[in-house]
Amino acid sequence: MNYDPTSPEQWEDPAKVYAWLREHDPAHHCEKFGIWVVTRHADVLAILKDTERFSSRDANTALADATPPEVAKVLAEGHPEVDALLTADPPIHRRHRGTINRALTQRRINENLDAMGQIAHALVDGFVDERSADLVARFAIPYPLHVIAEILDLPEERLPDFKRWSSDFVRRFSPDLTTEERVSCARGFIAFQRDFEQRIRQAQARPGDDFMSDFARAGSEGDEPLSMPEMLTTIMQTVVAGHETTTSLIGSALVLLLRDPALHETLTASPEKLPAFVEEVVRLESPVQGLFRTTTCDVELHGRKIPSGAHVQVLFAAANRDPEAIANPDAVDLERRNPRGHLGYGEGIHFCPGAPLARTDTRVALEVLLERLPALRLAPDAKLRHAPHFFLRGWESVPVTWSTR
Ligand code: HEM
Repeated sequence: MNYDPTSPEQWEDPAKVYAWLREHDPAHHCEKFGIWVVTRHADVLAILKDTERFSSRDANTALADATPPEVAKVLAEGHPEVDALLTADPPIHRRHRGTINRALTQRRINENLDAMGQIAHALVDGFVDERSADLVARFAIPYPLHVIAEILDLPEERLPDFKRWSSDFVRRFSPDLTTEERVSCARGFIAFQRDFEQRIRQAQARPGDDFMSDFARAGSEGDEPLSMPEMLTTIMQTVVAGHETTTSLIGSALVLLLRDPALHETLTASPEKLPAFVEEVVRLESPVQGLFRTTTCDVELHGRKIPSGAHVQVLFAAANRDPEAIANPDAVDLERRNPRGHLGYGEGIHFCPGAPLARTDTRVALEVLLERLPALRLAPDAKLRHAPHFFLRGWESVPVTWSTR
């Protein structure tokens, strides 16, 4: 079976090809994209922990073609993009990670709990009387964007810009863009940099008890402070990772529960089960299906020789349904003994620092939607499609109807 996440059949139903690969070709060489694909839970976990042989540098560019001169010219106007955080290895990764961990604390998430509820209610207020809506466009996209903006103190009126720049940030490595589109993404990237450079400098000049001040403060003693390009890459990655993924998670959660009336009823009657459900959605639907590592030496896996410098895609989503690691892996089970035993947030030094936020804001979002939209149903004529992407998974739209009280 061929692995091709750009084929519509596979991005609609990737579980089938993942199961085949796990069983028959666990270290698969994908000719079309020149990458190696790893699917078993034990292998994915081992690779994530082996940062010496599997580097995160170049991870973003595994699929990208060389930068055309038109794009390079635009990028030259900004700070160089450096390997940072997601695309950094030890020991420098520790410095970047320290800045994020210092700013994105559980205390800060808890302080924003009321704001999350208010944001969710305000969004629902905007459409509740219409009795039908696309919950991706009206809720799942704006909600995490407003939440991350609240935590980072970003002004409300700039949110459309942040959304656009974030999309540019993600899209610029897609293998199917024209040069014109890549130039446009590069412009968005530079605008994003300029905005955050100003915020970082303001926070350094007048530090307070807020996210940007904690982020921009020098690190622990003995650590070299982060350079401006390092800070920019780290903060931009966080802003982007902080909402695109949560949008997908909310959309996937809604479809899963609306397709299963018994589950819908259980979660409406017992909202205390929502955290277990959210964890199951991350496992089953994996908004980040898989990311890349680059081998630093020749590596042998299941009898295949992966050469040094190869791009390896670790498929969290495939690992998350591996029956060798997870009992009854295709079912939603709210009573799992080890509910966090999946790899949907990664593992090891790059384990998602936003996981506590994603768990909390998605739970709050579902609580509000289930409470405010009685008799919530998928619209009878809903044609559900996943947005095409090489490694992110989420519904393009979730059209629903509900009744009024
Ligand atoms: C459904 C929600 C989310 C999912 C499924 C998810 C998934 C992941 C995964 C799989 C990784 C590991 C990357 C790797 O090993 O290369 C990761 C890293 C990361 N995530 Fe998340 N994430 C989510 C939400 C968030 C949120 C809300 C934020 C920030 C507010 C965030 C920020 C980050 C950052 C900065 C990294 C890089 C960490 C590092 O390299 O040390 N994520 N995420």
